[in-house]
Amino acid sequence: MNGSTVLVTGGAGFVGSAVARRLSAPDVGARVIALDNLHRRGSELNVPLLADAGVEFVRGDVRNRDELAVGGRPIDLIVECAAEPSVLAGYDGGSRYVLDANLGGLMNCLELARERRARMIFLSTSRVYPVEQVNALAVHETATRFVLEDKQGVPGASAHGIAEDFPLSGVRTLYGATKLAGELLLAEYAAYGVEYVINRC
Ligand SMILES: NC(=O)c1ccc[n+]([C@@H]2O[C@H](COP(=O)([O-])OP(=O)(O)OC[C@H]3O[C@@H](n4cnc5c(N)ncnc54)[C@H](O)[C@@H]3O)[C@@H](O)[C@H]2O)c1
Repeated sequence: MNGSTVLVTGGAGFVGSAVARRLSAPDVGARVIALDNLHRRGSELNVPLLADAGVEFVRGDVRNRDELAVGGRPIDLIVECAAEPSVLAGYDGGSRYVLDANLGGLMNCLELARERRARMIFLSTSRVYPVEQVNALAVHETATRFVLEDKQGVPGASAHGIAEDFPLSGVRTLYGATKLAGELLLAEYAAYGVEYVINRC
């Protein structure tokens, strides 16, 4: 990463600010730009910590292509952490923000990656897995937790957790749907040469 320029979207958030600060540390040596619109209450508290770590903060919105362009600078890697990450988002009467920020914002990031020939790391989520399928898994109860049984009636589930071949059909929340749709978009952008990693953290 030494000398590479990394754009961390949602860079003042919980994950984004930690990633930005880590990549900016001397042993990694990336030039890091953290872009965030400070939509998340409290994210502004991370801005001074970013400055202390040598991260450049840009107040900007992934929905706005001009702001996302960060002045036309070269970018080697985009770490896409900007999102409305609540499973309840959109159920209070307005789904526009979660769709525009999570899916429209990702689309803008993908276009930027294509233009600047940048790689991408996309913060997806375990919420891509449908709620009913997860709730139907066999578990047993221990003193402090439910533990998944090793034998399950569906692929991709065992005592080790849920893997990528777990079924994806069913409803999952608007948030999860934006992330799953985002994963599909990323795969399509491989046709433009965009290299990517998806993390269903
Ligand atoms: N924290 C977790 O446990 C977890 C688990 C699974 C997935 N994720 C994913 O990781 C990513 C980061 O999550 P987090 O926990 O850091 O959430 P967070 O809310 O702390 O961070 C998201 C950041 O994005 C910013 N943001 C929102 N809309 C924006 C926009 N339109 N333009 C620019 N910035 C915008 C917010 O201000 C915030 O700082 C998200 O994509 C989330 O879905 C997080």
